[in-house]
Amino acid sequence: MAASATKQSLLLLASLLVLIGITTGSFYDSFDITWGAGRANIFESGQLLTCTLDKISGSGFQSKKEYLFGKIDMKIKLVAGNSAGTVTAYYLSSKGEKWDEIDFEFLGNVTGQPYVLHTNVFTGGKGDREMQFYLWFDPTADFHTYTVLWNPLNIIFLVDGIPIRVFKNNEANGVAYPKNQPMKIYSSLWEADDWATQGGRVKIDWTNAPFSASYKSFNDVDCCSRTSIWNWVTCNANSNSWMWTTLNSNQLGQMKWVQDDFMIYNYCTDFKRFPQGLPTECNHN
Ligand SMILES: *[C@@H]1O[C@H](CO)[C@@H](O)[C@H](O)[C@H]1NC(C)=O
Repeated sequence: MAASATKQSLLLLASLLVLIGITTGSFYDSFDITWGAGRANIFESGQLLTCTLDKISGSGFQSKKEYLFGKIDMKIKLVAGNSAGTVTAYYLSSKGEKWDEIDFEFLGNVTGQPYVLHTNVFTGGKGDREMQFYLWFDPTADFHTYTVLWNPLNIIFLVDGIPIRVFKNNEANGVAYPKNQPMKIYSSLWEADDWATQGGRVKIDWTNAPFSASYKSFNDVDCCSRTSIWNWVTCNANSNSWMWTTLNSNQLGQMKWVQDDFMIYNYCTDFKRFPQGLPTECNHN
């Protein structure tokens, strides 16, 4: 009696584990390691990926598929200790001269000093839309979820589900919006000590190399994707939940908290940089 009950619950547990395995996807399924000659690696049957950086090279990976709209969660643990001069980038980008791009870049720092999260949006090959933040936690102590929600109405940057920035579709005001060019997901760890940390004043300390950033349990469910020009967009059943989302009042409150307390640079308030007037979208937020 007891033995068969145990057996049954074991079976149940096993099938649950299979289910979880299927729904979380794996880095093997979704990504190709494209840079770094062995410096980026996938472990734990596809649930963990690490990028490393040493004096010779950084490393990186990109998605197999291209996406046109999606909600993409990436769970990242950044380079710990003295990470000054290192940049961990996680971004979406299309190809060509008039490319679109949505950027998260994490600028390292000396031990105990804060990382900077640098964000940008390019449309039709034009960027210059930087916003920078400190984080309200230590991004090297554990994995945190960095999300790009990209739909026809807006691009929302979220950290652990908290919106930090929105780029609205302002086509009505003449601002190009990414909606025709599919993008791949890219991520890499590289050296940028000429500008990354405290404006380039603090250099990378190679005695700490190799530097390492980790990524975990990528969940390739909430996207519209294509595998080639011939195999066009297949949207997931889940897409309903984000395809027409904009921020609700609660989320606007959260974003205000982040922008009031943690934002350190906003191109939309940089009057010195834009003496001819701020970019159009800054007046239509
Ligand atoms: C590094 O720390 C310094 C001092 O706290 C700070 O000014 C800077 O914004 C931090 N981040 C980067 C990437 O330089």
